[in-house]
Amino acid sequence: MTAAEKTSPAPQWRWLIALIVTVAGAIALIYWSPQGLYLWLKAFHIIAVIAWMAGMLYLPRLFVYHCEAEPGSKQSETFKVMERRLLTVIINPAMIATWILGLWLAYESGFYREHWLQAKFLLVIGLSGLHGEMVRWFRDFQNDRNTRPAKFYRIMNEVPAVLMVLIVLLVVLKPF
Ligand code: HEM
Repeated sequence: MTAAEKTSPAPQWRWLIALIVTVAGAIALIYWSPQGLYLWLKAFHIIAVIAWMAGMLYLPRLFVYHCEAEPGSKQSETFKVMERRLLTVIINPAMIATWILGLWLAYESGFYREHWLQAKFLLVIGLSGLHGEMVRWFRDFQNDRNTRPAKFYRIMNEVPAVLMVLIVLLVVLKPF
């Protein structure tokens, strides 16, 4: 064990510390409510959205390549590590940040009363459901029990892109 590993907290504690710091920071910001907060929230919402979408577009692509690797092979084990890191380090935290910041923006602006945001909300629920499905497919690959063909993941790769286009059109054009 290295000196850094000895002094840094265990993974489950890191999550708890990150959660406490985030919640405390959010409460402090709501209480303090500095000028320009809305634009900062929006900037970080967009950053989180970019990270979430990048992962949601890349993960099914990895599944496509993973289908072609023999279970138990070195290549398959490498894909497992890549998928695990992508999901736990980027996709999951980015999805949580997108939701928290999006809901905060909706509350701050009062846009939650408008139909375009309600439609966007439904599409984001669809996107989050797809995220949940990806976690299920991820677990199948991790346990070497995927039975779906590469074509399935190729088709699924298009769904987040379509949802993203609709969501961005709704939030930017606010058509109704
Ligand atoms: C729970 C989920 C979400 C909620 C409640 C939410 C809500 C909001 C709100 C209220 C705004 C501010 C709009 C304005 O000030 O004009 C916003 C901005 C934005 N959102 Fe979301 N959002 C969510 C998820 C997403 C997702 C998944 C995407 C993309 C795939 C997205 C893309 C954007 C973009 C690009 C902007 C900036 C629009 C602009 O400034 O013109 N949002 N969101």
